[in-house]
Amino acid sequence: MSDNPYQDGRGNKDVSLGKDSTSTADPIRKSGAAKPAADTPFLIGENMTGGYGKGPDILHDCTIAVNPGEIAVIVGPNGAGKSTGMKAVFGMLNIHTGRVVLDGEDITALSPQDRVVKGMGFVPQTSNIFTSMTVEENLEMGAFIRRDDFRDTMAQIYDLFPILKEKRYQAAGELSGGQRQQVAVGRALMTQPKVLMLDEPTAGVSPIVMDELFDRIIEVARTGIPILMVEQNARQALEIADKGYVLVQGRNAHTGTGKELLADEEVRRSFLGG
Ligand SMILES: Nc1ncnc2c1ncn2[C@@H]1O[C@H](COP(=O)(O)OP(=O)(O)OP(=O)(O)O)[C@@H](O)[C@H]1O
Ligand SMILES: [Mg+2]
Repeated sequence: MSDNPYQDGRGNKDVSLGKDSTSTADPIRKSGAAKPAADTPFLIGENMTGGYGKGPDILHDCTIAVNPGEIAVIVGPNGAGKSTGMKAVFGMLNIHTGRVVLDGEDITALSPQDRVVKGMGFVPQTSNIFTSMTVEENLEMGAFIRRDDFRDTMAQIYDLFPILKEKRYQAAGELSGGQRQQVAVGRALMTQPKVLMLDEPTAGVSPIVMDELFDRIIEVARTGIPILMVEQNARQALEIADKGYVLVQGRNAHTGTGKELLADEEVRRSFLGG
């Protein structure tokens, strides 16, 4: 009875869910968003080398990518360059080798703002909400690039995160850690991204809240929005990952499916606590 695409139980790779495709497009997923899973990445930061300003290189020939309809997870020790890799893909630092390709288009030269217009949604690791604004104002800010009516998208986000609807007139800074992360993800969804990048969406939350957030992230992926995500909770994240990357000192140390990495002796010993 619900027409909420997030409540559909079909598999991750099935992007046909949601409303019938002949009517108005899914308010969150813009038409023309990711097509069904293929082996060509939908978003790739390829062979990236670079760092901050005139400082040393942090990334060394680093590649991270996500395929259509999939969840890709980046794990690795503190300071490994996970956030730097995400920022590089989003255009927040200059890479002097490598490139970023979104849906077949080389976007290496674009500003972060232009990448948002192209369909990238990014939730950074820190300062990802406006704490003094209400929940609803945060979502409205997220819609800054839109000139159309975004109320449907907001309703969808409230369906996905009911607690945000309840607290929509409350200052976002008053919310719990897990609720703030929902605001941050909701804000990014307001642009109807074709791909979503999340840097540690479960940082600092309890295991129960982490599970809930992962469930919501899987729901978003099921609507056809590929997700490239950094996670501190490596084991749990790899369990829901189609693809996983272990980064060490700015380099790709291990790459595989989530299952492969979970089964890899070396990965288990070094990064998953045995
Ligand atoms: N704005 C910055 N300017 C200069 N160096 C930075 C900046 N941000 C991060 N670094 C450096 O880049 C390296 C990688 O940091 P990064 O934040 O990408 O690691 P991370 O893998 O995301 O770590 P964490 O798990 O702690 O979030 C570190 O040596 C860090 O000191
Ligand atoms: Mg980080």
